Amino acid sequence: MIEHCKLIDLPKITDPRGNLTFVEGERHIPFPIRRVYYLYDVPGGAERGAHGHKELQQLIIAMSGSFDIHLDDGFGKKTFHMKRSYYGLYISPMIWREIDNFSSGAVCMVLASEYYDEKDYYRDYDQFIKDAKKAHK
Ligand code: TYD
Repeated sequence: MIEHCKLIDLPKITDPRGNLTFVEGERHIPFPIRRVYYLYDVPGGAERGAHGHKELQQLIIAMSGSFDIHLDDGFGKKTFHMKRSYYGLYISPMIWREIDNFSSGAVCMVLASEYYDEKDYYRDYDQFIKDAKKAHK
């Protein structure tokens, strides 16, 4: 549910030599980290995401630059503007997400609770909405 999706304020060790942030699975985020992937060299105006997951949990961090994440659980929608590398957006299962408005040089890092599995995806919005509404009945 969209209420479970929230910005997580990650630890930040400020230092005149440069700041440091870390993420520990099952401590700062509610899942063990099985996979890390990142989007980069995203051309201006491009959109990524546009899918939902049945089981997967994720944390999305703007490692560099900025972008918008639009969430939709079939009942409500929320948009987050990501631009700080010490904030992560936690996304629970059964959330449709779209990512756009990438700044030049933006890097979007995703920590995921499971290995890549195409069977866990909803790629069709109408099917996602149907199942999301059924699940919350
Ligand atoms: P896609 O889900 O369309 O990317 P995004 O949601 O970020 O816009 O994935 C693009 C391709 O990359 C698709 O063929 C699946 C593949 N892929 C993997 O092989 N492993 C992964 O961990 C991810 C996230 C994608």
